[in-house]
Amino acid sequence: MTARIIDGKSFAEGLRSRIAGHVERLKADHGITPGLAVVIVGHDPGSQVYVAQKAKQTVEVGMHSEKYELPESTSELEVLQLVAKLNADPSIHGILVQLPVPPQIDPKKIIEAIDPAKDVDCFTPASVGKLAIGLPGPVSCTPLGCLMLLRDTLKDLSGLHAVVVGRSNLVGKPIAQLLLRENCTVTMAHSRTKDLPAIVRTADIVIAAVGRPEMIRGDWIKPGATVIDVGINRIDAPERGQGRTRLLGDVAYAEAAQIAGAITPVPGGVGPMTIACLLANTVTTASLINGLVPPSDLTA
Ligand code: GUN
Repeated sequence: MTARIIDGKSFAEGLRSRIAGHVERLKADHGITPGLAVVIVGHDPGSQVYVAQKAKQTVEVGMHSEKYELPESTSELEVLQLVAKLNADPSIHGILVQLPVPPQIDPKKIIEAIDPAKDVDCFTPASVGKLAIGLPGPVSCTPLGCLMLLRDTLKDLSGLHAVVVGRSNLVGKPIAQLLLRENCTVTMAHSRTKDLPAIVRTADIVIAAVGRPEMIRGDWIKPGATVIDVGINRIDAPERGQGRTRLLGDVAYAEAAQIAGAITPVPGGVGPMTIACLLANTVTTASLINGLVPPSDLTA
């Protein structure tokens, strides 16, 4: 069998055009322009690329975008003061502080200072709690992107066995919550799991979120299973020239694509969904802050 390739890049394009439609309606019917503020501290080149993309795509879907680029030496208090100002600003409905932050700043303190109503990353304890009990609000961006791709691929996830490999707060735990809501039977696997290959072989859905290049091999995949690869591992690729790198997922793609029913590539699978879901969350928070029901096609 050769797997169907789940094209996250094209799904994210479609999602962004739906978001643009919702933004247009919020403006025309309610006079609301959703606003997203992105804060970056320091000069991490990877973070700068991400933040520039976030700001660009925010504007492209018709939203208000604010970008705060603070120097590496910024104190924790200065970031907390900026977060407090954005919390109080009625033109801002989403606040994202790009992680990692420099060592003089405690990321937990910064996250906890963000008003949960504007927490478009779904990082604050209040947002995580809402997600766990199914209350409306923002949903962690990468997990929401995975869920949208799974729904589009499989339609009904009910009763399927999902194995989530990786138990991070950012991906593993929230995706498990979302899959439970879809009536999947969910197994969480992690670095201490015994006989991981045997467990993965029982999965109808595999979510790979461990951050180890090509750890999950083709012969771990049940024939016909759906494989969602969250890993984005940059590795040296001297065969492409000196200093060149390439991206690998957590799944050995060439092997797994021979056996799976459907699979996300890296790049072009889950990656493009993350920023699109950040924009979706900003429409959700802008709606909720204004007492409106958020669009159902933008959330879990
Ligand atoms: N750094 C890398 N990914 C993310 C993300 O999704 N949100 C934030 N705030 N920082 C990140």
